[in-house]
Amino acid sequence: MGSSVVRKVGVGLIGCGNISSIYLKNAASAFDNFEILALADLIPERAAARAAEFSIPKACTVEQLLRDPAIEVVLNLTIPVAHFAVTKAALEAGKHVYLEKPLSITLAEGEQLAALAKTKGLLVGGAPDTFLGAGIQTCVKLINDGWIGKPVGATAAMVSGGHEGWHPDPAFYYQTGGGPMFDMGPYYLTALVALLGPAASVAGMTATTWEKRLITSAPKKGTMMDVEVPTHVTGLISFASGAIATVVMTFDVKGGSTQVPLEIWGTEGSLQVPDPNTFGGPVLFRRAGEPKWSEVPLLFGRSENSRGLGLSDLIASLSQNRAPRAGVDLTLHVLELMQGFHVSSNTGRRYRMRHKCRRPTLS
Ligand SMILES: NC(=O)c1ccc[n+]([C@@H]2O[C@H](COP(=O)([O-])OP(=O)(O)OC[C@H]3O[C@@H](n4cnc5c(N)ncnc54)[C@H](O)[C@@H]3O)[C@@H](O)[C@H]2O)c1
Repeated sequence: MGSSVVRKVGVGLIGCGNISSIYLKNAASAFDNFEILALADLIPERAAARAAEFSIPKACTVEQLLRDPAIEVVLNLTIPVAHFAVTKAALEAGKHVYLEKPLSITLAEGEQLAALAKTKGLLVGGAPDTFLGAGIQTCVKLINDGWIGKPVGATAAMVSGGHEGWHPDPAFYYQTGGGPMFDMGPYYLTALVALLGPAASVAGMTATTWEKRLITSAPKKGTMMDVEVPTHVTGLISFASGAIATVVMTFDVKGGSTQVPLEIWGTEGSLQVPDPNTFGGPVLFRRAGEPKWSEVPLLFGRSENSRGLGLSDLIASLSQNRAPRAGVDLTLHVLELMQGFHVSSNTGRRYRMRHKCRRPTLS
């Protein structure tokens, strides 16, 4: 007889900033296979404040957290430029790692992390995990079941004026490792790979519209930021399946709109995929000859903000003898895609993908 008691794996969270609260909330209420035992941050007061807020037993230094034998998995929620060093240190300390996107800010660093994890026999996985939510999982099933026929093309667009109007500390979005592609691209590209499979090559064109930008959000309102990265990126992806996608990621557009963030076009019909920065719907479908789109009921659970779903899946994979769905092959593939757009723009040539990944299986 099996036991219904799920073993809670000990998790240590590093990086107690903006996004940490939804992970802490969901860890306490939405997932039963892990428990956050300790918090650490470069700024100790942040770890202490979050520990008090979410009744976490320990706030400590990064070094103390990595030495804690009760912690099997590190949840790395630091800023992108710190992802590599923190993930590397955690792997060297013998911990599995799940981290926020992107895997790292350069492909070379991402490759090092993947290689180190393999050598150590440890798992690395990472955000986004929105593709495991009800909306995109429903779209994946509809494609698998042949609703749109053969997927031919797709369009993905994130049109925004940037983050300086709301984020309390937005400078990192404009520094090396930031920009709209590295910040928002992971949601769209991970969804595209989940929907259409791995990419074969990409082409990109990029622009930096402003060299400096003004923070308009508290508490740094009035501060100017230097812009180190392209802030308007347009590209094409050729998938191994033969489908071709157009992608636009921008922080430079005021008053623009895209009616649909992600649309997949097929030989028999098309799908309007929900915003890939969310877990729910709506999923809209139109068959050949139908005048209107119709909403398809969601076929899976997890339509609310379920950040941590990929971490929970990675932890489940440890005892299920399978690869995690949001695993390092997927995050490395997406990192290579993002870098590929910029390399292609700089060289004026198409970039051919070196890192393969499998299309993640349905939940
Ligand atoms: N803010 C969002 O809405 C959002 C949404 C999805 C994903 N993300 C991702 O989450 C990550 C964190 O974003 P955020 O908005 O929470 O940033 P943030 O700046 O609010 O928080 C990051 C925290 O990490 C700490 N930190 C930085 N380097 C560290 C290091 N070496 N060791 C220990 N702590 C360190 C900082 O002191 C800070 O408290 C980023 O990768 C971002 O792309 C953010």
